Order: sequence, then structure tokens, then C-alpha cells
Amino acid sequence: MNTTAQQAWVEEAWSKALAKTLNNTKRIGANFPHASQGGKYVLEGADWWTAGFWPGMLWQLYAESGEESLKAIAESCEQRLDEVLDRYVRLDHDLGFMWLLTSVANYKLTGSEASRIRALKAANYLAARFNLKGRYIRAWNPWREGEDNSGVAIIDCCMNMSLLFWASGATGDPRYSHIAEAHMDTVLEHFIRPDGSVYHIVNFDPETGEVKEKLGGQGYAPESAWSRGTAWALYGLALAYHHSGKAEYLYAAQQVSHFFLTRLPEDHVPHWDFRTGGATGDLRDTSAGSCAASALLLLSGLVAETEAHVYRDGAMKILESLYRNYGSWDNNDEEGLLLHGTSNYPENRNIDVPLIYGDFFFVEALARAKDAGPFYWE
Ligand code: GLY
Repeated sequence: MNTTAQQAWVEEAWSKALAKTLNNTKRIGANFPHASQGGKYVLEGADWWTAGFWPGMLWQLYAESGEESLKAIAESCEQRLDEVLDRYVRLDHDLGFMWLLTSVANYKLTGSEASRIRALKAANYLAARFNLKGRYIRAWNPWREGEDNSGVAIIDCCMNMSLLFWASGATGDPRYSHIAEAHMDTVLEHFIRPDGSVYHIVNFDPETGEVKEKLGGQGYAPESAWSRGTAWALYGLALAYHHSGKAEYLYAAQQVSHFFLTRLPEDHVPHWDFRTGGATGDLRDTSAGSCAASALLLLSGLVAETEAHVYRDGAMKILESLYRNYGSWDNNDEEGLLLHGTSNYPENRNIDVPLIYGDFFFVEALARAKDAGPFYWE
């Protein structure tokens, strides 16, 4: 898909990501890294929303390299997730992030029946979170005693809809897709602003479905533009179009991507929020960049060739800058592949550090640039 010169750096980046990940498997093994502190990934429990990214990255690298050790660790991670699927009362909407990149990946690559059943179970739990009145997937269960967040939906959930689309394909039952489309229609109506930026959180009345409030969530302010949330929307809308063929999702994906691409700084890697008024300096979020790059490459394949170059060129500029300016390739004391991610600025958590989802989407975007699928959201 690219010129020879462009292909050369993509291959170089891929080799470095593979080598670094193979090295990381020695310490991380079948665990669940999230953010790197002092050069080492902090390991989270299997119940944390990021649990799918490490095994997902291993599957992506295995699919192209055939390195059996990567497959073995990804399978062990998937088995460890059973304790969450079967016994955890606080399962939330992130079932897609967790089981698309583990069980759906395994099923796509090996045909494992156990993985297919796990992914269907996860899809059923996700479908059960649908609020019929508000036509949204509920985000979380109460974080603490007495809290009622049954009306909360968040933009990140766009990415989880692929698990429902997959389940309809796997079972022949359209109910899962119907729920996914209903949720995405709600996203179009209530989350996307006219300028193509997005709200992170919309709080509905769970009894009537009326919108109560719109919140900035992990962004800088209610009317700001959190860059990773923008990337979640862009990717989720492109995937919803890929799965459903509904043109309104494609148009919205284009609208969001135009907002994203036109707000990038000179080096093409996004600030953590596009509308801080300079209040947080030059702080970036490389994970928003890598997620958007992968999404834009997908989008470039969904539109006519006459406009595909807008998205492909935008994606490759982000990806090349991430590789050349934000990688840890020469630092053996850093496990993260991409430096300068921002996980949660308002809560002062994991700021300016490598993040496992940043690494995952970087590898996935490289795989797209190399035409080296499969891709587990599709
Ligand atoms: N709320 C998930 C994220 O940090 O993107």
C-alpha cells in the first residue's frame, strides 16, 4: 500500500516492536500490564479494562511472525480471564476490549471452540447492559456502595460494539447487531458535536431515556475534546460502518477524523486534549495517536480511492512520527514501546508514560500498513 521508502521504515518499526515485545514476555509473561512506571509495566488484575491489550498485541505479532511463545502466553492470558467472566460482579461495558483481543482473536486464528464460547458469553453479558428506553449500553456498575450510575454511557464503548457485531455473525442471530446499531445511533445523536469533537460521558435518565447531562469525563472540561475519546469515536464509527454498511456511521467517522487530523500539532502526535487553551502545556497522548492511526487506515479502505489518501496519509504521518520521535527503541530499560501516553489527566493517573493500549494500537496500525491482518475488531 505504500511507497518502498515508506515500507522500509514500517518494516524497521515492526522488527523493533517484535524484538522488544519478545524481550518483555520474559518478565511480563501471562499477566496484564497497563502503564509503565520507572521503565517497568505495572501489572493489573485480570478484571481491569486493559486486560486484553497485551494478549491482543501478542496475537497480532504472532499472526505475522509465527513465534509460538507469543501464542502460548496469549492463550494463558485468555484462560486467566475466565475467573473474571465467570465470577466477577462488576463486569462492565469493556467486555469488547477484553474478549475481542483474546477469545475472538484466538478463534479467528486457531478456530478454538472454547474461545468462541467464551466470546459469545461475553457478548451476551454486553448485550444485557442495553437500556431500552435510552438505547445505550450502560458503562459501569456502581464503583461504591449507594452509587447509581445506571444512566451512564461513554464514548469508549463504541469500540466494544464489534463484539456484538461479531456475535451476530457467529450465531446468525441479528439481535446483537440490532443492539450495537441502536447504541451507535445514540452516539450519533448525543455524543458527536457539530464540529466533529465528542463528549466523553452522557448521563441519561435510565427510566425515561432522557439526557440529563453531558460530561467531559477524562477530558479537560465538559466542552473540551479529549483526544483518546475522539479516537475511540473515530475507530468505533468506522467499525460500525464496516459491520453494518450504514452510511451515517461512515459520514460521522469522516467528520470526527477531520476534526482529529486538523487539530494535530506540527509533529502529528495529538495533545491529550485538543481544547485545553494551553493550560496543560505540550502534554501528549501517544495512545490517542496510535489508535487514530489504526482507525484512519481502516477508514481509508472504506472510502473511494479518490479520498482514501486523506486518511491514509494522515495515518502514516502520525505513525511515522510515533516511530521516529516517541519510541523507546534505544532504551533497554524501558518496557513500553511508545513514550508519552496520558491515561487519566483529571484524576492525575499515569501521565506522560507508556500505556499498553498505545503499544497495542501502534503494532496494529503497523500491521495494517503492512497488510498483515487479521484484525480482531472486524
Ligand atoms: N476509559 C478508558 C480510557 O482511558 O480510554
